[in-house]
Amino acid sequence: MDFHLSEEHLAVQAAARDFAQKELKPGVIERDSKMEYPYEQIKKMGELGFLGMMVAPEYGGGGMDSLSYVLAMEEISKIDNSCSVIMSVNNSLVCWGIETFGSTEQKAKYLPKLASGEWIGSFCLSEPEAGSDATHQRTTAVDMGDHYLLNGTKNWITNGGTSKLHLVMAQTNPEKGSKGINCLIVETSMPGVAIGAKEDKLGIRSSDTHTIMYTDVKVPKENRIGEDGFGFKFAMKSLAGGRIGIAAQALGIAGGAYELALEYSKQRTAFGKPINQHQAIAFKLADMATEIEAAKLMVYRAAWLKDQGMDYSAASAMAKLYASEVAMRHSVEAVQVHGGYGFVKEYHVERLMRDAKITQIYEGTSEVQRIVISREVTGGKPYLPV
Ligand code: CAA
Repeated sequence: MDFHLSEEHLAVQAAARDFAQKELKPGVIERDSKMEYPYEQIKKMGELGFLGMMVAPEYGGGGMDSLSYVLAMEEISKIDNSCSVIMSVNNSLVCWGIETFGSTEQKAKYLPKLASGEWIGSFCLSEPEAGSDATHQRTTAVDMGDHYLLNGTKNWITNGGTSKLHLVMAQTNPEKGSKGINCLIVETSMPGVAIGAKEDKLGIRSSDTHTIMYTDVKVPKENRIGEDGFGFKFAMKSLAGGRIGIAAQALGIAGGAYELALEYSKQRTAFGKPINQHQAIAFKLADMATEIEAAKLMVYRAAWLKDQGMDYSAASAMAKLYASEVAMRHSVEAVQVHGGYGFVKEYHVERLMRDAKITQIYEGTSEVQRIVISREVTGGKPYLPV
């Protein structure tokens, strides 16, 4: 077993770290306070290839593996989780879904725009009354022959105010339950797409989260992804990979909070010595380092399984469940290490603590991850940890 990262992986990690420190850190506090969308930063991320990392070069992407994507997500998430969630949804839900299950025409038409960041995409599954219970979609896509007539409301949509393309899950045959759901590629310029107000959130405040309303939107038949009724499976398969991205985001938050706490603990003296020489602080740092290391192994392994073409749905749920708990626990501890300074924006840790919470909620709550894992553990083919 070789735990070394390859030269290529180290180069991606260094490039993302450099970009995050130089281009994202200045201004991140202000963007967060003002809920300002990072237009300029996202444009640069597109130019540098961070928005279509795994997309094949023939469609304008970086052709990289999932581990490269995870390493970049981790570094960017140490600094700016609004940028990393935009990146995550675009890469692992929208681009991956279209590239893996889309038609040749869909790939050629949409991937170059999405991979370059010219267009940003949204993944529209959640509804006011269908969040965790995703099979009970109220949005309808009525089959009209050459097109679907789309009606309904989606909420908590990341990139909702800025995206040009939505992957919308909608019910076509209610009597078939989850097998009656389709995924449609909706261009936001289509008549009948309306964007609701931007949510005022606890964390990831400069990302734009909106409710979206669809009223009699005519979506051409060729915009359906896969066979009739494939939409729910499409969403679940996409989310299994998406959860690796969010697990990497959580890992970055935990790592970023730890780096800040460690640095502060070396500078700050109390009772005649640096505070990291007091066991009360040293033990906190030891616990942080230990749990971040464990989370890192889980997240990298989930990405590795995906890259090997092996089953990764339980591994990604486990990685997200654990990494998001570590992010929450240790961003709180990092604030504590900073004392009063941790409670003000200037020191960055309070933002990471606020950002950590969403990693336990989106792309499936911690409870949903436990459903996914427990079904594998108790299923016909019992899960054995390796
Ligand atoms: N791969 C392939 N098929 C899958 C699958 C997977 N990973 N998971 C489920 N399915 C299939 C099942 O096999 C089943 O098919 P059959 O009937 O043929 O057996 C079908 O899908 C229905 O599955 P379940 O019966 O398991 O469905 P359920 O109602 O019990 O729900 C659930 C399961 C895991 C709770 C699921 O609803 C779920 O994941 N909910 C959470 C949704 C979620 O993550 N939302 C996040 C929104 S997106 C977001 O946050 C993006 C953003 O903007 C940041």
